Amino acid sequence: MKNELYFNINEVVDATDKLVKEKDTIGYYDLPNQDITYIKNYLKKFDNKDIETIVIIGIGGSSLGIQAIYDFLRYDENLTKRMVFLDSTDPLFLKEMLESFNLVKAHFMIISKSGNTIETISIYKYVYQKLCSLNLDLKEYFTFITDEGSNLQKYANNEGFNVVNIQANIGGRFSVLSSVGLIPLALAGIDVKEILSGANEVKKEFFNNGEINQTLQKKASFMASHFDKHPNNCIFAYSERLKYFVSWYVQLWGESLGKKQTNSQLNVGLTPIGLIGPKDQHSFLQLIEDGPRDKSITFIKVNDFVSDLKVPDIKMKFLEGLDNINNLEFETIINMQADSIVESLLYKSDIPVDIIEIDHINERSIGKLIYYYELLTSLVGEFLGVNTYNQPGVEAGKKILKTKLQNILKD
Ligand code: PA5
Repeated sequence: MKNELYFNINEVVDATDKLVKEKDTIGYYDLPNQDITYIKNYLKKFDNKDIETIVIIGIGGSSLGIQAIYDFLRYDENLTKRMVFLDSTDPLFLKEMLESFNLVKAHFMIISKSGNTIETISIYKYVYQKLCSLNLDLKEYFTFITDEGSNLQKYANNEGFNVVNIQANIGGRFSVLSSVGLIPLALAGIDVKEILSGANEVKKEFFNNGEINQTLQKKASFMASHFDKHPNNCIFAYSERLKYFVSWYVQLWGESLGKKQTNSQLNVGLTPIGLIGPKDQHSFLQLIEDGPRDKSITFIKVNDFVSDLKVPDIKMKFLEGLDNINNLEFETIINMQADSIVESLLYKSDIPVDIIEIDHINERSIGKLIYYYELLTSLVGEFLGVNTYNQPGVEAGKKILKTKLQNILKD
């Protein structure tokens, strides 16, 4: 993975020590080198089971990271199981999703750190009732992933269901490399050891002051010190396979950085915007090119799509003007498109741009990218002076909903 920065920053504050200190209370830092025996033991239970679909019932940090990794890797022909994500209380969506696979050959993972998230529990209740009506042995169908001691764990233990705990001190949006992400991904047939090994490469390089340390510190310093001038950061990812990675980034960045500063009353944050190329060239790009200079843009390119799909060598009357695309690989076209947009922005010189290049679409690459973004978020949070790991705004809405629900009961 390469990250080229096309902007200047005069003063870079070194916050590595601050992140090292956080390791005592923030669990995600040590996930890349965790012991994965618990995953191997868990998988043994499924040795002779015929599972076609793994269904994730969870929301936010308990779903998006898993979907980001799965969607990046799902075209791999070795993947034998499909994953389905039930992360909305939209009744039409739920109905459609539940009709899209064979319930009898599915395994359901109910994932919730707190164990009392309304979306997750309401969807679980619906699925539970559906499976009950099929007279199945429910113990074979559910795994609960939750914090030790949560009400959900108590419920699952009481029913005799399978429970996997989340490692200590891991916030939802930083949890994809914990049991939250690794258990379902491993069951789907994804090589989670390789994901961790990619993440560990970034971790070592960062904490041993390698190149990635300098790059991340520069980028974080720039973004935090320009938050009033460039309050928006767009990721412009040139691959459909990064669609959910971009959604994960929007959650990670928004929920971690949009806060009141710890030692002041100032509301700060950088607005994350997720774009996919080339589609968004025909949409949002105009705003970037000619709109207000309030955005920084991070391009993500994939060097090798491992595909030789080509535009056929066909000449068509009246379309001769586009004959130069004949015989070109689609991989070449998409990357030329990205390069052209980068060039047009660099030419303008008042829009901060950086480019992340991923070599291959594999477990290692996504592990690196995920951990890279987690470190970047921690650094920017440090520089902005916020508590990166709480989410008081989200909690406020949750509390109001709970009161509303209690009031319904009283009426
Ligand atoms: O990052 C976060 O903390 C949130 O997005 C949570 O993941 C989300 O609210 C779901 O919470 P829980 O895992 O407790 O069900």
